Amino acid sequence: MRGLAGKYVLVTGGTRGIGKGVAERFLTEGSIVTIVGRHEDEAKKTVEELSAIGEIDYQIADLGKPETAEQVVEDFVARKGRIDILVNVAGIQIRKWATDFSIEEFNRVLDVNLKSYYFASRTAFKYMRKQGGGSIVCISSGNSNKYTSRRSAYNIAKTAVNGLVGTLAVEWARFGVRINGVAPGYVATEMIKHGVEEGIIDVDSIMSVTPMKRMMSPEEIGNCVVFLASDEASGVTGQTLFCDGGWDMCALPEPEVLPEE
Ligand SMILES: NC(=O)c1ccc[n+]([C@@H]2O[C@H](COP(=O)([O-])OP(=O)(O)OC[C@H]3O[C@@H](n4cnc5c(N)ncnc54)[C@H](O)[C@@H]3O)[C@@H](O)[C@H]2O)c1
Repeated sequence: MRGLAGKYVLVTGGTRGIGKGVAERFLTEGSIVTIVGRHEDEAKKTVEELSAIGEIDYQIADLGKPETAEQVVEDFVARKGRIDILVNVAGIQIRKWATDFSIEEFNRVLDVNLKSYYFASRTAFKYMRKQGGGSIVCISSGNSNKYTSRRSAYNIAKTAVNGLVGTLAVEWARFGVRINGVAPGYVATEMIKHGVEEGIIDVDSIMSVTPMKRMMSPEEIGNCVVFLASDEASGVTGQTLFCDGGWDMCALPEPEVLPEE
C-alpha cells in the first residue's frame, strides 16, 4: 500500500485480538508501530512476537479516562517526534439488560469505546495539522447499525463512533487529515469467547444472518484499516467500511436450500 512505509503508527488496544492483527498489517507495510493496552505482560508478549516483522514497542494506559487518551498521544509524540497514523481499537463490552446497567458501567463502556476515540483523535489531529496531514481509523462494529439486546451501552457507543468519524472528517479534511471507520462483524477474539462462555453470544444464530457463514479474522480487519490509512484511500474520509461477511446487508436468516446449478 502506498504511503505506509516508515510512518509512525499508534494503535490503541493493539496488545491482542483485532488490534494485534492491525499492528501486524502495519508492520508488514514497513510502518513503525506502538501498541497501547492495559496489561504489561500481554503488551510485552505481543511486542516480542511481532518484532520479528518490524519495529514495534508499547505504552501501557487505561483509556477509560479522557485525560489518559490525550496523554497517550502526547507521550507517543514526545517519544517519536510525530504521529502519522492513529488507529483507535481499544474496546470493552458489558453484557446485561439496559435495566441492569449501573451508571458506572454505562459510563465505563462509553469512556473506553467512544470518548477515548474522540480525545485521542483530536490530540493526534493537533500534531497532524502541523505536520501537513495524517490519517485516523476508528474501529466501530456491526452493532453500530444492527442491534442485539444486552449490549445497549456498547451499541450506543459504536453507533456514535460512526458519527464521530463523519463529523470530524468534515472538520479536518481541509487540513489534510482523513478519518474513517472499520466496522467488523464477529471476529473470534477474547471478547467474543467471553460472550459465548456467558451464553449471551450464540454462534449458530450469528451464522444464520452472515452470508459468508464464517467469522472474520483480525487480519481481514487489518487489511481494511491499512487501506483506509494509506494513500490508496486519499479521496476517502468520513466513511465506515463494514467488514462483516455481509451481515450488515442480511435482513433475515437465509434458507438452507440452494439454487440449482
Ligand atoms: N471481536 C469482535 O467480534 C468485534 C466485532 C466488532 C467490533 N469489535 C471491536 O474491535 C475492538 C477490539 O476488540 P477485540 O475483539 O480485539 O477485543 P479484545 O478484548 O481481544 O481486545 C481489546 C483490546 O483493547 C484494550 N483495552 C480494553 N480496555 C482498555 C482500556 N481501558 N485502556 C486501554 N486499553 C484497553 C485491551 O488491552 C486489548 O488490547 C473493540 O473496539 C471492539 O469493540 C470487535
